[in-house]
Amino acid sequence: MFISLEGIDGSGKSTQARMLADHLEAQGRTVLRTREPGGSPGAEAIRALLVEGDPGRWSPMTELLLYNAARRDNLERRIEPALARGEWVVTDRWTDSTRVYQSTRGGDRATVDALQDLVIGREPDLTLVIDMDPQAALARGLARPGQEDRFEQLGLTFQETVRTGYAALARDFPDRVRLIDGDGTAEEVAARVRAALP
Ligand code: TMP
Repeated sequence: MFISLEGIDGSGKSTQARMLADHLEAQGRTVLRTREPGGSPGAEAIRALLVEGDPGRWSPMTELLLYNAARRDNLERRIEPALARGEWVVTDRWTDSTRVYQSTRGGDRATVDALQDLVIGREPDLTLVIDMDPQAALARGLARPGQEDRFEQLGLTFQETVRTGYAALARDFPDRVRLIDGDGTAEEVAARVRAALP
């Protein structure tokens, strides 16, 4: 199975991706844990272009192309081979991040979808969105220093729009996308994640 974890910055999804992978491994499964943008060496190099420097460094279209280039490399080099070997893949972000973030950052959703269909064409079997109020994510201290920077750069309103975007995706793709309540301890949230597995 191919599972993606999604959510706003500071939602705790990276912790949940790790805990889910650990849980699956404890069940005897072989798991590839990966992240976006990044995962493969080439995609990690592209990640540096995306997450470092001035937020206005790229136009919305160039940014969209870079996310897709990173994802394509990770898909070809790491994810498809792992799935072909019958392994499970748990990724910290996938195509839904681009749908939500790049639409919020001024991209056109139809273009985002068309490009992803063309160059990626692989949706997760299951997407778990760790749903969290942005203010609560900050107050709970979940946002690590780097993420606090991003909160500051993009603002609470941006994170609120992203959260609303994820809720809309859960309505658009009810068979694939589930909202998980991100309130509580990491272990409490992890139990909800495990309960959402088929
Ligand atoms: P991370 O903090 O979860 O590693 O994600 C890095 C940032 O990149 C985060 O603010 C979300 C953003 N992002 C996009 O804007 N589009 C994408 O397609 C992905 C994967 C991440």
